[in-house]
Amino acid sequence: MKLTPMAPKCGVEVSGVQLADAQGDTLDAIRHAIYEHGVAVFRDQDFSPEDHINFGHRWGGIDVNQYFPLNADFPEIALVRKEADESTNIGGAWHTDHSYDQIPAMGSVLVARDLPPTGGDTEWAHMGAAYDALPEGLKSEIEGLEAFHTADHVYKADGLYAQTDMGKNLRGQDLQTGATHPVVIRHPQTGRKLLYVNGGFTVHFVGRTREESVPLLYRLLDAARKADNTCRLQWKPGTVAIWDNRTTWHNAINDYAGHRREMHRITLSGEALAA
Ligand code: OGA
Ligand code: MN
Repeated sequence: MKLTPMAPKCGVEVSGVQLADAQGDTLDAIRHAIYEHGVAVFRDQDFSPEDHINFGHRWGGIDVNQYFPLNADFPEIALVRKEADESTNIGGAWHTDHSYDQIPAMGSVLVARDLPPTGGDTEWAHMGAAYDALPEGLKSEIEGLEAFHTADHVYKADGLYAQTDMGKNLRGQDLQTGATHPVVIRHPQTGRKLLYVNGGFTVHFVGRTREESVPLLYRLLDAARKADNTCRLQWKPGTVAIWDNRTTWHNAINDYAGHRREMHRITLSGEALAA
């Protein structure tokens, strides 16, 4: 197994391994690479839907996404899909998957199934590097703070997606979500400090209104966006990416109008987060 960093502070390409066979020491080495680099990319994978599900169980369990359409034959697999005649994509802004859950998913395993001829890249940003780069004053301002996360404004019947042409494809419009997490968490396995707020689902700080929270929240989101902490993946047939939702944000670039893109996602179960 060979590891090649994708960028100085985010992402690693892993070669010489087939995920469908990975277990034991190989799986441990893959886990460690993902915890450290935030996202790992695997090329030329022979990875059927059954392999995808088996890998999720070998990793430690699957959280089924409550909103995305599911694969009819394999309901543990969520479809991250945009048809050629649709304009809104899933995940087209910086976010972290499932931070609105009390026990957020550890990560996601995304498999390219049908790609546009060009475009449709995905970017990640490392939140350990984002935290490290914060000015000392900002670090002390957020010491001990907690934030509230929810998906309601995104997926509810009057939410962001319902106002787009992706709305008709999504489920769970009547669900209610909400969770509080520390603004700075320690990575459960490595202990590294990570900035744990995101523009998709973090709405206010605990003990402060939305209005009171917005200035500090936006300063944090801006600082994390400007940090030198991103990497970018150009998908090819056979590419699989596995990312750590505690360590990274990601963003699906929507630049392939007129073409179809379909990805299969399994969401890996996680653990409660602590400062
Ligand atoms: C996701 C997501 C990114 C992409 O599956 O959670 O945001 O590039 N997808 O499709
Ligand atoms: Mn996502």
